[in-house]
Amino acid sequence: MKRFLCAVLTAAMLAALASGCSSKETPADSDTAAASSETASSVAETKDEASSAPASDGIDYMVLVNKLNPLPEDWEDKLECVTVKNSVGNDVEVEKKAYDAYEKLKADLESEDIFVDLDSARRSVEEQQRIMDEFTRDHGADYAAKTVATPGYSEHHTGLALDLYLIVDGNDVTENDDMIQYTDIWAKIHEKLPRYGFILRYLEGKEHITGYGYEPWHIRYIDSADTANEITSKGVTFEEYLGAVKSSDVKIDLGSSEIFSEDELKEAVIQIKCKFASFRDCELHSITYAGDETCSDENIARMNDLDEGAEYTQAIKFTSEFHAYNSPVFDPDSEQKDYEWWLARGGEDGWQLVTWGY
Ligand code: DAL
Ligand code: ZN
Repeated sequence: MKRFLCAVLTAAMLAALASGCSSKETPADSDTAAASSETASSVAETKDEASSAPASDGIDYMVLVNKLNPLPEDWEDKLECVTVKNSVGNDVEVEKKAYDAYEKLKADLESEDIFVDLDSARRSVEEQQRIMDEFTRDHGADYAAKTVATPGYSEHHTGLALDLYLIVDGNDVTENDDMIQYTDIWAKIHEKLPRYGFILRYLEGKEHITGYGYEPWHIRYIDSADTANEITSKGVTFEEYLGAVKSSDVKIDLGSSEIFSEDELKEAVIQIKCKFASFRDCELHSITYAGDETCSDENIARMNDLDEGAEYTQAIKFTSEFHAYNSPVFDPDSEQKDYEWWLARGGEDGWQLVTWGY
């Protein structure tokens, strides 16, 4: 389905324009994951002897790569990786020190009968594009946008982001929807991350800062147990720790709906929050459901007009308040009120963010 975003000029659109793709060459991962196999532990280990890359001490282990910050230009010149084979037989490329730390984490987990392996770590821009295309085709553009980074803007390009999968009772659990059910196992894994210099990157509830939905499997190596401990114990995102965003509590008001469940409205809120993360230098204060009356025939028709080829059967509106500091789009230091977000869906599809602005 081809989407047509309304011509309202928004911060998000400008950010997207400003953030075109870099054409860097990097390797592979997928938050999807594939296959099943019988082996319980990783096979691994082909050191990338052929690599002529300089030593890893040149890279900045605290580098921030997110929706607003692409992979630094000279990253690849300094990066040194190892290539390992996982339990399902796929090669995974990982930054050298991150892999050493991962091996220690893995051994520690195994001592408590928790088994993990690497679904992916370093990805090339081409691989990221392949994943983005696959997610867009299978789940729609908005689901893809809250799950997969724009090529050139994925933390996976750094080699420092690792996607784990679980091995439960000898079975590989690799699909996101399956993995996310194992909350107890993830809690035990997350508790051990900082001591090996890892943090959990995409926290639940912080989607307006990270730009992505909760990912219990995506861990990030930062090469300092002390800093990882500090970040984890404060419960902040990497962006907040680095002071890269203004953060505040966000008031979510779902009102009362006779059409939609709380979970359905929460899903729409996550969609909005993930988009908001690309509003440069803005601080989100609230998201409010505008009420069932917005799901009118007139509004549904309007959404279908805006999104060419869509067959929406429901439409909803939310409003937001946020502060724009030095945004390239809004007046400097301005409080934005009644900012509108319109979402629509049809059939079994999830919410699509159709238009936003005033
Ligand atoms: N899944 C994370 C956001 C990525 O694609 O980089
Ligand atoms: Zn990931």
